[in-house]
Amino acid sequence: MGDRVAAPGSEAVLAMPRPSRYYLSMTVLSLFATRVYHARLPDEIDVHELEASCRSIAEDDEAGQRWCEENGFPGYTSYSSLADLPWRFPIFEQVRKALDRHVAAFAEELALDLDGRPLGLEDLWINILPEGGIHTSHIHPQSVISGTAYVAMPAGSAALRLEDPRLAMMMAAPPRKRHAAEELQQFVYVQPAVGDVLLWESWLRHEVPMNLAEGDRISVSFNYRWDA
Ligand SMILES: [Fe+2]
Repeated sequence: MGDRVAAPGSEAVLAMPRPSRYYLSMTVLSLFATRVYHARLPDEIDVHELEASCRSIAEDDEAGQRWCEENGFPGYTSYSSLADLPWRFPIFEQVRKALDRHVAAFAEELALDLDGRPLGLEDLWINILPEGGIHTSHIHPQSVISGTAYVAMPAGSAALRLEDPRLAMMMAAPPRKRHAAEELQQFVYVQPAVGDVLLWESWLRHEVPMNLAEGDRISVSFNYRWDA
């Protein structure tokens, strides 16, 4: 990759490395990176306790259960019914604090210029996806960073499927070869483990394909916003 050189305006101009003049000599740049951040919840968060909390909240949340039923949502989500999990439950406050640190680190990694205004938690919600459940492809359009912490992933749990954000513009492009390098693939599956935290920029389209595990796949998802 070439160095950046100063430009007249605020944008830097890439200094292109010079290929030689031999036949087919070339350089190839990789531009416009899509980054996915992978970390772990800290040890002081007891993931079994977190799982028990998710299950008991789901059991008690009749408004949430009703919403899932009315909207054909497989399993349970607290998304529409409980907006204040970290305030109500100390273990979710621990999760929030850990996520705050990871989101700040990811923002740094992405070189986001936040102008002194840190990203703040907007929503945090529980997902309990039973065997056979799916969560169709979507983005989180009002947020900056979105992600998920994984609480229960029984054997056979669905991976997370990430989609090339340019796909909608590739009207006539052929698909990529099956064994193309990972950064050239148009869909990438990642298989998180219990205690993992994944973060991505909120425009990155993602889905949870059918959960083939016999047990519930339990996760806590969240959005971070940038306050004006
Ligand atoms: Fe999502």
